[in-house]
Amino acid sequence: KEPPTRKDTSEQLKGALRARLDEITEAFTVDTAKLKAIVDHFVSELTKGLTKEGGNIPMIPTWVADYPTGKETGTYMALDMGGTNLRVAEITLNGARGFDVVQSKYKMDESLKTGNAQQLFSFIAECIGNFMEFYHPDSKDNVSVGFTFSFPCTQPTLNSGILQRWTKGFDITGVEGENVVTLLQNAIDERKINVTVAALINDTTGTVVASNYVDPAMEMGCIYGTGCNAAYYEKVSKIPKLEGKLPAGVTPDDYMIINCEYGAFDNEHVCLPRTKYDIRLDDESPRPKQQTFEKMVSGYTMGELLRFILQELYEEGVVFQGQNVDKLYKEFIVNAEFNAKIELDPWENLMDTEVLFKEELGIETTMDERSFIRRVAELLGTRAARVSMCGVAAMAKKRNITKCHAGADGSVFNKYPHFKTRSAQALAEIFDWEGSPDDYPLKVLPAEDGSGAGAAIIAALSKRRAEQLKK
Ligand code: GLC
Repeated sequence: KEPPTRKDTSEQLKGALRARLDEITEAFTVDTAKLKAIVDHFVSELTKGLTKEGGNIPMIPTWVADYPTGKETGTYMALDMGGTNLRVAEITLNGARGFDVVQSKYKMDESLKTGNAQQLFSFIAECIGNFMEFYHPDSKDNVSVGFTFSFPCTQPTLNSGILQRWTKGFDITGVEGENVVTLLQNAIDERKINVTVAALINDTTGTVVASNYVDPAMEMGCIYGTGCNAAYYEKVSKIPKLEGKLPAGVTPDDYMIINCEYGAFDNEHVCLPRTKYDIRLDDESPRPKQQTFEKMVSGYTMGELLRFILQELYEEGVVFQGQNVDKLYKEFIVNAEFNAKIELDPWENLMDTEVLFKEELGIETTMDERSFIRRVAELLGTRAARVSMCGVAAMAKKRNITKCHAGADGSVFNKYPHFKTRSAQALAEIFDWEGSPDDYPLKVLPAEDGSGAGAAIIAALSKRRAEQLKK
């Protein structure tokens, strides 16, 4: 392969680069003792969030108080608003822990993310209209839809949700403090589409349910992607904030899914080992002092941290000297996918990284710079995987579970290199497991389609409960 086009790093700069790498390594390394300390604080925050007074983490009761049996059947419609696409799906549950999905995706314009409520809900309603027109042009019946809306919503009931605040870089006016089900239903009704929004579902809630439908050992559902959050089945008697107001037919011995919204963990900044780069990221974010945990581990911020470090080293005169670094000053130009490509570079001379920097940032790198960049990407990816597991460990400790499965979804879990092995290693350390991390009985496994199948199963569960109550 071709040698680097730029001259090698001088001996003096090599020394500076090594010294900075040592400092950065120390700042981003989270050892076992620290992981354990984070988990302990996490458990107390989960517990506090379930009290009447509430705590720092929302811990939202979802009113989903049934485990699937796996025998659920029927065809249901689901709507999933992700970051880049809107998905309308029709899911058929086969009654034997399996399901089929028919779906259409509609690209969500980037501008919708910072527009207004009217634009957002008109767009969604229009997509539903198109889907119905295409698949059920002659349908006369009213169709119920489960709406997966992956933001923190207070849920007075299963089919309502007041948006507490936007996360993940969304900032649409006129939605915070409003019932998103009403906003969507109004937009649907205006178009005279015969569809009723029957349930509002967080992606994590859908993930637990869909995962449990196919694997009854699943007690938690986690998302590691643009955002980071989880939901789990909690014993009703351990949810004081319900104040005994249980849904009909639900007893204190039943279990209800709690959407933790634990991306907000440590917003008080008492426990997570934030570096100066994390602090800068928070200060410059549209919503400072929010989603502290999420900002440390999500795919949304991983690239920014790398960019900040490289900017700083450039300004210190240690890297990229004589190069045009304008692009390095563009927000979000470096993202998790970029970091992933660096980590996946198989060449000893890190040739793929060389091309990446040249093509995406217009920067020619030396071999020493590339080794440094690779190491930093590894540090960031490793920290994200390790710190992420504190949430899973905390839910398990809170429930006193030593053996169960957690379903995980999201771009970081599914695609980021080594995330699964690094996170399994962290879980084993937290629980002093001396065997191979793969054998640890608390396992984070790929989830089923939470936003589609999860929504369908929740619809089936609520139908079943309504029927049982009629008897
Ligand atoms: C953010 C949202 C949360 C969602 C998570 C994963 O943390 O606030 O509702 O579950 O991202 O998408």
